[in-house]
Amino acid sequence: MTSEFLYRELEKWLLQGIQEQRWRLGERLPSIRTLCRERKLSKATVQHALQRLEAQGLVESRPKAGYFVSSRSEAPQKPVSRARTKAPQPVTVSELLLDIMRRSAAFDLVPDVNAGEPPPGIVALNRSIGRSLRRQRGGDYQYYDEPTGNLALREQLTLQYTRRGWTAAPDELCITSGCQHALFLALMASCERGDIVAVESPGFYGSLQLLEQLDLQVVEIPTSTETGIDVDALEEALKRWKITACILSPAFATPSGASMPTAAKRRILALAEEYDLTIIEDDIYADTAFGTAPDPLKALDSKDRVILCSSFSKSLSRDLRLGWIAGARWHTRILHLKLITQLASSRYLQQGVADFMEQGDFAAHLRRQRSELRKYRDQLIAHMRSWSFDLRVSQPEGGLAVWVELPESVDTLTAYAKALKDEIVITPGPLFSTSGQFRNCLRISFAHAWDDSRVRALNRLPEYLKPT
Ligand SMILES: Cc1ncc(COP(=O)(O)O)c(C=O)c1O
Repeated sequence: MTSEFLYRELEKWLLQGIQEQRWRLGERLPSIRTLCRERKLSKATVQHALQRLEAQGLVESRPKAGYFVSSRSEAPQKPVSRARTKAPQPVTVSELLLDIMRRSAAFDLVPDVNAGEPPPGIVALNRSIGRSLRRQRGGDYQYYDEPTGNLALREQLTLQYTRRGWTAAPDELCITSGCQHALFLALMASCERGDIVAVESPGFYGSLQLLEQLDLQVVEIPTSTETGIDVDALEEALKRWKITACILSPAFATPSGASMPTAAKRRILALAEEYDLTIIEDDIYADTAFGTAPDPLKALDSKDRVILCSSFSKSLSRDLRLGWIAGARWHTRILHLKLITQLASSRYLQQGVADFMEQGDFAAHLRRQRSELRKYRDQLIAHMRSWSFDLRVSQPEGGLAVWVELPESVDTLTAYAKALKDEIVITPGPLFSTSGQFRNCLRISFAHAWDDSRVRALNRLPEYLKPT
């Protein structure tokens, strides 16, 4: 075996030891000499593996003392998911999810809170929509808009994507009723009943529901809270089964908030070509980036294999029910399916949002929202650090939630029922998988202002989540 593989092997072994807490936070790792002797490796190989872990912030070297498991609070979290890839299976989404969704609380701890005045961006949006409504012509109400959607809105969207490295013509986009609708169209267009679809695990429960409805099978691919889907595991799965499509959220995946590095995106596209795979890119969180929004996978898609789905639900308003899809080689079929499933989108709403974007109000809204979201994330994480039990919290650079891994003995499904009695809604880990994994995990949102009712709810959580 070459020394390249040897250092990687050692790195993996050490990483696993840290994850399994063979060496706990702040503890010393075996010395370089011990590692050389016990693992039969050269000093250079051992040093290289340790330096790589150090570069990831997982260990730190202390002069004359050796290497220690990093105790820096900002140290990157290890992959939360250690799920193994299981064989494809039919999807059954739990009653629990439907219960949470009925409470329209999947993103909140406290349902039915009057959140006060809307932010300036929403006031401006409402003004634009009002203007658009007043500009309607007398007979407009008697006609549907064209199924592709409003041209001005599609132009504004393509302008946005140009800034993110993807140059598209407005004709490549079709307006939908939100991202969920776009995902539905993407699956309908690219898959047939019984086909196998790969998803991130943990992953978005809305996609799992769609797979169930469309009679598709799922194969869950492990993900890390930092870099997203495990591309090696995806490749393994592609070798074993005929997988038709893969749903991915390269920018701030749900629920982990992970972002895929460019090299991983390129590898995914190469695999898509090799295995004739459709990639369904869920880009809904990209505009919540605390820094610059990452380029979509679609920007690298020279083979027309990536169907991009998104909406304004996370960046602007869930109530708009406006999304879009770039259907790549399935575009014509998708237009037809849009016509069948929705006929058309509301003309005045689309025009209002297009005006809002054209005026620069959307960009201003995003700028304000970004700094607020970052603040809320920091407040939430700082608050959780005061909890008295061990937990790992993801540290996303965008999105609206963190993913929390609690001690193995915690059961978030039981905690859900307890919290509900106090009118607190939590989002338990098993919702993000179809195979009952992640019982000791939780998604907690930082989408809302840090007000008294949420702080009170957060203060109660340790009581429900106490390890047994
Ligand atoms: C990852 C992801 N994709 C899609 C959706 C659905 O979005 P929309 O409200 O635009 O239908 C959501 C909503 O929670 C989501 O989290």
